[in-house]
Amino acid sequence: MTREKPKTFHVKSFGCQMNVYDGERMAEMLAAEGMTAAEEGAEADFVVLNTCHIREKAAEKVYSDIGRLRREDGTRPMIAVAGCVAQAEGAEIPRRARDVDIVVGPQAYHRLPGLIEKAQQGEMALDTDMPAQSKFGALPDRTAQKRPTAFLTVQEGCDKFCTYCVVPYTRGAEISRPWQAIMDEAKALIDGGVREITLLGQNVNAWSVEDCKGHSQGLDGLIRALDRLPGLERIRYTTSHPNDMTDGLIAAHGEVEKLMPYLHLPVQAGSDRILKAMNRSHSAASYLTVLDKVRRVRPDIALSGDFIVGFPAETEEDFEATLQIVRDVRYAHAFSFKYSPRPGTPAATMEEQVPAAIMDERLQRLQTLLNQHQLEFNQATVGRTTTLLLERPGRLPGQLVGKSPWLQSVHVQGEGAAIGDMIEVDIVSAGPNSLHGELKKRKAA
Ligand code: 5AD
Ligand code: SF4
Repeated sequence: MTREKPKTFHVKSFGCQMNVYDGERMAEMLAAEGMTAAEEGAEADFVVLNTCHIREKAAEKVYSDIGRLRREDGTRPMIAVAGCVAQAEGAEIPRRARDVDIVVGPQAYHRLPGLIEKAQQGEMALDTDMPAQSKFGALPDRTAQKRPTAFLTVQEGCDKFCTYCVVPYTRGAEISRPWQAIMDEAKALIDGGVREITLLGQNVNAWSVEDCKGHSQGLDGLIRALDRLPGLERIRYTTSHPNDMTDGLIAAHGEVEKLMPYLHLPVQAGSDRILKAMNRSHSAASYLTVLDKVRRVRPDIALSGDFIVGFPAETEEDFEATLQIVRDVRYAHAFSFKYSPRPGTPAATMEEQVPAAIMDERLQRLQTLLNQHQLEFNQATVGRTTTLLLERPGRLPGQLVGKSPWLQSVHVQGEGAAIGDMIEVDIVSAGPNSLHGELKKRKAA
């Protein structure tokens, strides 16, 4: 049985920012193939579920989502499972969920048009190759963006092999995209209205290449080059590994005006015994030394981190060391998770897995402390005058929401300002998750 080529599509991304970026690139590619994005809430002929495999709960979600795509009359859209679940589970997916037509891994999605044709012929289309030739060259150029902020993947994959993590298996080995490809994409985004670019990579600060003159360049060199692009107002990057925070990158935080005072630097745990078992290759002390250096050049920097509680054999004393590092750093923002054993990773078969009830209790204690610090950080910005990049309308009439340099969401009565504008505000109040500002004056565009 052959099926018609789908006319409308919907891409739904879960998980990290890299997936959001991949989802946008897939959408741009499907549009270039002549398909149109389905209206919000409307049913699409083709649905891409761009999945996350980092924790079990995220990975299992795809199966309930697939079930929900069945319509009342028994028909369904053409369904592709993309992303890290596709890479990790491959042919197992259509065995578990017969409605799936296409399985495509994160390094193969540039071949989606061919996979759709195969699915039209009624064949199961599976592509989880990690081709030597990167997908980026085969994707259409970036098109005008709806928002003033954009992600730009510069680095993918991971060679660090933390013992809990699936990323080295689902995203493959570390690769750095070439200098010129990144600069071209940045310029296209800026031409399309983007004013803030967040450079993405699983280990973004490990990005390194030779530039056109044959000089070796690290992320700080790239940031300095982007800083010179007219029209770009703000630069961010995520996610970094403590061991790849070079002195050059730290110095950039004190020197590059467009580089925002925000650093996401996961530590995962505060106990050196656990860090060793995690194969993190840094200690609590070496991590704190990096942060000291960053704070010396950029005292107001907002620090953010990731934490895992209940890694195998974590004792109360180990967990207390995590709380201690949190007290030492006082994060502006953080993500914290219960350890989730992932098939194929070394930690999954370690002895002394921590009981769920203990994990729950530790996560709650950690989150209480992190939330308290987040609120304190936000409150400390009250009374400051700062710049916002306006990103979206707020819930109240005339209200707009923008981001501060420290990545806080700030609500403001717009008074003639528009999304994409940089405005100056006084921060007047702060809660744990958002702040309120009063418009001072418009900054010239
Ligand atoms: N269990 C729980 N959290 C995990 N992370 C990665 N792997 C796991 C796992 N198996 C967390 C880490 C990482 C973030 C993206 O997800 O904190 O930094
Ligand atoms: Fe996973 Fe560790 Fe690599 Fe981060 S550095 S992606 S946690 S293996």
